[in-house]
Amino acid sequence: MSHESPSADQVEYCYVTKEIGVPVCVLTEKDCDTRWQGFPQWLPFNGRRIEFQVPQISTDAGSNIMLQVPVPDGKLEVPLPERCAEGDTLCLFQRTDDSWKIVRRRDEFSFVVPDCSPGDSLTLTLAEQVSLSFAVPEGVSEHDVVTLRRQPDGEWAFDRCAALPLFTPTPFQPEWTTAQYQHILDALKDKGYIDRLPRNLNVSVPFCGHFHEYVALGNFLSENFPSDVSVFGMELYDDYLVDWAKAQRWLKKVRGIRCCIEAGDLAQDPLPSADLAIGIHPEVTKGGPWFRIIGSLLRCCKLCVFATFYKEEKETLVNMINMYQANGSVEVFENPFYETRELPSHPAMRFVVVVEQPAGGKELLRSFFSFCSA
Ligand SMILES: C[S@@+](CC[C@H](N)C(=O)[O-])C[C@H]1O[C@@H](n2cnc3c(N)ncnc32)[C@H](O)[C@@H]1O
Repeated sequence: MSHESPSADQVEYCYVTKEIGVPVCVLTEKDCDTRWQGFPQWLPFNGRRIEFQVPQISTDAGSNIMLQVPVPDGKLEVPLPERCAEGDTLCLFQRTDDSWKIVRRRDEFSFVVPDCSPGDSLTLTLAEQVSLSFAVPEGVSEHDVVTLRRQPDGEWAFDRCAALPLFTPTPFQPEWTTAQYQHILDALKDKGYIDRLPRNLNVSVPFCGHFHEYVALGNFLSENFPSDVSVFGMELYDDYLVDWAKAQRWLKKVRGIRCCIEAGDLAQDPLPSADLAIGIHPEVTKGGPWFRIIGSLLRCCKLCVFATFYKEEKETLVNMINMYQANGSVEVFENPFYETRELPSHPAMRFVVVVEQPAGGKELLRSFFSFCSA
């Protein structure tokens, strides 16, 4: 069955949830501002640091706002991170190529407790390049969510610890995504992609949000990769920490899979290299940082699988992919889940885009670097 999405002139913004607005229009290479083309996140910092407060921002400034910051040697332009409001403190860190990483200073930092014992000392690195040493208190155990709070004197202190609900081997799996996700995994297997992956597998789940799909993914990985499997995720917001903790606990206990999910900005922070990346619902038609995010993922993952709601997102994604990779194969198909079902107005994971790098991957790196220096 083939389905038609609403055309771009009928719909300007579709609100998939009350939080996620997805502009439905196709972007091409021409929409990639030069400021987003490079990948400076791969370079170390040079020690120069600037802090300032976010000024008043006009309500109709839209998204992808660039701030102009006067500095002694000129003026620098940096993107305003999402969710930043007037008065927030922004920290800028310069990299060795003179580009800047920008982060909002937080007064709270939460993390999922790793496998450790009371009295152990954990080293925690915050986005604003602060390294904290945390002695695990009595009563705090693996998969609890600990929150530290910045004190008025600037020091960090233990604030609270939230324990997860009792473990269940059959956790909640939302009916609005699980079957769609399972159909993608099955299609990857049927098409031979899974059999071409190494048996010891590193999997990335970029921009994973709640990471609701962990049960389907965990079951699939342990059926197809009986040896060593690890899963790493990165998502901009740490709102989902409790979900990540539950996923980590379930994957470890039920499937013996190591899983770590961190809050981080994929447009600024590199993902570790992976054999397989599965990125569900990239907000590519927002443009700006999404060019860099997609380029970055193609660079570090051998097999990248993306799924989008809309035709316009799929086309934008393919345009982005074509900007960054030369010799990898690109396959686009409709999720077989919808073959036998009525198409809803916001069809989760409807289009699947798969990018497979040739063995060796040298061509990928060449094209990546030639794009950066263009
Ligand atoms: C449409 S949601 C998809 C979430 C999840 N994969 C799903 O399908 O439910 C897009 C996600 O991308 C995340 N995101 C946006 N910009 C990001 C960035 N620069 N780095 C990491 N994640 C980002 C958002 O916070 C959001 O959770």
